[in-house]
Amino acid sequence: MSQETESRNLSAPLSRNKHLCRWVEKMVALTKPAAVHWVDGSQEEYDALCAQMVEGGTFIKLNEELWPGCFYARSDANDVARVEDRTYICSLSKDAAGPTNNWVNPYEMRRKLKGLFDGSMRGRTMYVLAYSMGPIDSPMSQIGVQLTDSPYVVVNMRIMARIGLQVFKEIDKDVKRVVPCMHTVGAPLEPGQADVPWPCNKEKYIVHFPESREIWSYGSGYGGNALLGKKCFALRIASNIARDEGWLAEHMLILGVENPEGEKTYVAAAFPSACGKTNFAMLVPPAGFEGWKVWTIGDDIAWIKADETGRLRAINPEAGFFGVAPGTSEKTNPNAMATLRKNSIFTNVALTPEGGIWWEGMTDEPPAECLDWQGNRWTPEIGRTGVKAAHPNSRFTAPASQCPTIDPAWESPSGVPISAIIFGGRRATTMPLVYQAFNWSAGVYTGATMGSETTAAAAGAVGKVRRDPMAMLPFCGYHMGDYFRHWLKVQRRLTETPRIFHVNWFRKDADGKFIWPGFRENMRVLKWIVDRSHGRAVGRETPIGWMPRYEDIEWNGLEFGQDQFEALQAFDHQAWRAEVIGHEELFIDLHDHLPPEIVYERELLICRL
Ligand code: GTP
Ligand code: SPV
Ligand code: MN
Repeated sequence: MSQETESRNLSAPLSRNKHLCRWVEKMVALTKPAAVHWVDGSQEEYDALCAQMVEGGTFIKLNEELWPGCFYARSDANDVARVEDRTYICSLSKDAAGPTNNWVNPYEMRRKLKGLFDGSMRGRTMYVLAYSMGPIDSPMSQIGVQLTDSPYVVVNMRIMARIGLQVFKEIDKDVKRVVPCMHTVGAPLEPGQADVPWPCNKEKYIVHFPESREIWSYGSGYGGNALLGKKCFALRIASNIARDEGWLAEHMLILGVENPEGEKTYVAAAFPSACGKTNFAMLVPPAGFEGWKVWTIGDDIAWIKADETGRLRAINPEAGFFGVAPGTSEKTNPNAMATLRKNSIFTNVALTPEGGIWWEGMTDEPPAECLDWQGNRWTPEIGRTGVKAAHPNSRFTAPASQCPTIDPAWESPSGVPISAIIFGGRRATTMPLVYQAFNWSAGVYTGATMGSETTAAAAGAVGKVRRDPMAMLPFCGYHMGDYFRHWLKVQRRLTETPRIFHVNWFRKDADGKFIWPGFRENMRVLKWIVDRSHGRAVGRETPIGWMPRYEDIEWNGLEFGQDQFEALQAFDHQAWRAEVIGHEELFIDLHDHLPPEIVYERELLICRL
């Protein structure tokens, strides 16, 4: 440890806030850790924690030449992704959580959690981790304090959020409410008991108390289960705060498009998990788009609020990217590759003999040999039998500031103005490449009825269309019907309403191949969206909204025939009949909270069909 860290009494509070200090004392009494460490957020402290994890076997330091400042971790095979069926919204009434959330009576849940957390940190250090979601100086930012027994969480959170002394300073000003977040991996150590590289518990609970704005997470050390600032706070709790205060907490990337004239247009886009938000947020314009630039503000979460002039402005509450590794390459996402080159943490990817990392899709040629995400020897031969070297949900944790396209305004306290909102999912059929909803309420309907084919991350049959309203199904912290109503209400605060679009990069032909080349070619769609938002581009009216004609898309640099385009944009009456019936299935569940506008929009859609 550095002199500074060594000389500091780690258990001495870094805040003068009496409520905070008393709460920490109470939680120490409950969880009974061997030590308490108030996290100052310094580089020295980060280095010391990483070194400690290398010693304990949680981390492997990667080759400093190839991957400077980078570490590698393998999780327990039972702890590789968010656990939606173990995630609870414990509002006072079941009705407030709605049918799309798991609910348990909060009194009962608290009793359960008290039991689970009692002594749960025995033999471990409790870290007192203060963090800010959003830039410290932004009025849109929110503060949390996470008590955790996972040093892995602490170092990941240092990349994903603003943490430490600067946040304790904010807390001491006593102007912002602090969200208390309890986290334990649920693996206490008996005296003399050796630790494992990835402690966790088979039993998991990811619990939110929306009224008291509290988070309790038990049993997992992975991703959104454990980095509590991300999904738990910035989406599930923040969606409750946003509803009460009149803003939006969304599962959206934010990007800025700069045209050759220097005009900049910001858009926010909601795609479900593993549908390409990170790729789209870091898009590199293709050949034929010389002079165009896409700037990155965020890749996963947007907090959006109307300013005093009635314009929507957005901040990225995060400070890093927790991105899916497989499929990320110099070809698909060179900006992500540049971002994760240094000072990053890799979890559940493959480890190469020279102390480097690899995942499916990183290079055309796999390494001749490596260790897979479970530490077993892996060769391309083994790969051909279907065994993956990297877990499909393996991730990199990388600082946003290292992204070559990070927008100069990404930390602007007032956020960036949003001109368009894009919804999208993974749909092999029915959904065209792009259309624009007729107006805000039709756009809200479009978002509300969004669907996506399930991937490995969600439970259930892979490839089935799952309704995932606004990509928020696992993240909305209250009744989904009330959430739609809230979206409709937001428009009343606006003088300038962003246009709303729907995109689908994933439509397939009869042979099961993607029709659209996607990735950087998505720029062509983005240009139409930006131009429409400024009232420049034209299109044709269809039953579902405005669509570009072939000649409305910039094709310079890409050979893509008109018939291919027509296949992509085809409006299939039969398929849309089935689609609307699919909408109804979600609405039946939500019916007693469904705003009338949604019902009217559905009727209008049926009339147009
Ligand atoms: P979370 O971090 O889980 O919220 O997900 P994300 O939305 O950031 O998803 P991610 O970037 O990890 O999605 C990656 C998946 O989308 C990979 O399977 C990519 O190959 C695929 N993908 C991204 N962009 C495109 C595209 O334009 N076309 C096609 N066909 N696939 C794409
Ligand atoms: C998602 O699942 O949408 C993610 C990854 O962004 S996690 O942070 O693990 O939730
Ligand atoms: Mn996400």
